[in-house]
Amino acid sequence: MAFARRARRIAIAAGSLTALLAVAACGGSSETTPGGGASADAAYDQKGPITYVQGKDTSGNVPKLIAQWNSEHPDEKVTLQELPDNADQQRAQMLQNAQIKSDKMTVLSVDVVWTAEFAANQIVDELPADKFPTDDFLPATVNTAKYFNKLYAYPASSDGGLLYYRKDLLEKYDLQAPATWDELKSACDKIKQGENDSKLNCFAGQYNKYEGLTVNFAENVNSAGGVIVGEDGKANVNTPEAKAGLDRMVNWFKDGTIPKGAITWQEEQGRQAFQDGNLIFHRNWPYVYSLASKDDGSSKIVGKFDVAPLPGESGAGVSSLGGHNMAISKYAKNKGTATDFIKWWTSQDIQKSNVIATSAAPTRTALYTDADVTKKFAYMPILLKSIETAQPRPVAVKYGDVTLAIQDSAYGALQGQTTSDAALSELQTKLEGLIK
Ligand code: GLC
Repeated sequence: MAFARRARRIAIAAGSLTALLAVAACGGSSETTPGGGASADAAYDQKGPITYVQGKDTSGNVPKLIAQWNSEHPDEKVTLQELPDNADQQRAQMLQNAQIKSDKMTVLSVDVVWTAEFAANQIVDELPADKFPTDDFLPATVNTAKYFNKLYAYPASSDGGLLYYRKDLLEKYDLQAPATWDELKSACDKIKQGENDSKLNCFAGQYNKYEGLTVNFAENVNSAGGVIVGEDGKANVNTPEAKAGLDRMVNWFKDGTIPKGAITWQEEQGRQAFQDGNLIFHRNWPYVYSLASKDDGSSKIVGKFDVAPLPGESGAGVSSLGGHNMAISKYAKNKGTATDFIKWWTSQDIQKSNVIATSAAPTRTALYTDADVTKKFAYMPILLKSIETAQPRPVAVKYGDVTLAIQDSAYGALQGQTTSDAALSELQTKLEGLIK
């Protein structure tokens, strides 16, 4: 049902026909316009060195995989170009590269929320369907790579929000992993009273003014029964449910449930606080599991934490669907090598070795029940459920403006510069202008 809803949203929200026609009329080559196909592009016969461009690699595994590819393909070497770890800055640099029509970036690691924008503006090629079969991938991840039902990227890694919690502390106080935000708060009250440790904070996600705030806002709104964009593809964020979701964040900042300093946190700062033993509960993506389990002294909580589904207002919470897909820059050379590299990177074997090394969420369905994977990460069923029940963020050709509007409103409310009511009313007005 979520997929049907998403498909409808793509058609309505992202695809005002006028926007598409405007793009097509801008003189893009026909092989990359929606409805065309990449196979006609001569660059797809070319092989040779390429670059792979992605956000900062926190896992340490990306250079190893690239070295493996390079040793197997000495004439088609891949050079890694790392961008900042902030999603908005990655997007800006990729857009800038396309604007100057540079061939410096070949394979792009595209955040799932940029597909509509990158496809409609012909920054990436439509991928030849015959070379990129999608049957073995989680349907939710395939949908994030499509625009007007055509494939513009290949699902490389998924992401579902998880609640990390201090298993040792919950056990000490005879508590279960919380299913609702209220349960989480009362568990914190009990633990904090008993521990009497001023450094120990209750909970944090990501609240800096960047894409991560859009994710956390969306999750809070969705987990309270609200939406940002409704099933009809229209903005519908000025509702009591969305207000309950935003109020939860605002009030928790006010009363210290979320530490004040978290207003500057992205994923990495939250991970650090959790690993340092300063958070009881933490909302983050699956990559944290491996890093927080490292026994090289970098984590103080090895063996002391576990993961649970995200909590909600009155039951299970709803994750915002994350992840990255690999796309081929329109202006790149050696697209034949790019095609082979993407297929290799997303293959069952490479994805398996990568999830085992990094706990990054795979996109291939079979890996969620693979014995080697589930032996190492017993929480794979929880992650799968998080991804399968996740809500996509708004799908929009003007996604950059949409996420900025969300970030502005949520950040203003968190900082106490505006009320939740005023923030949501302003956001609704802005979104109505952006998503038609
Ligand atoms: C993760 C997710 C991505 C999201 C980003 C926000 O990288 O995979 O979808 O936009 O976090 O910070």
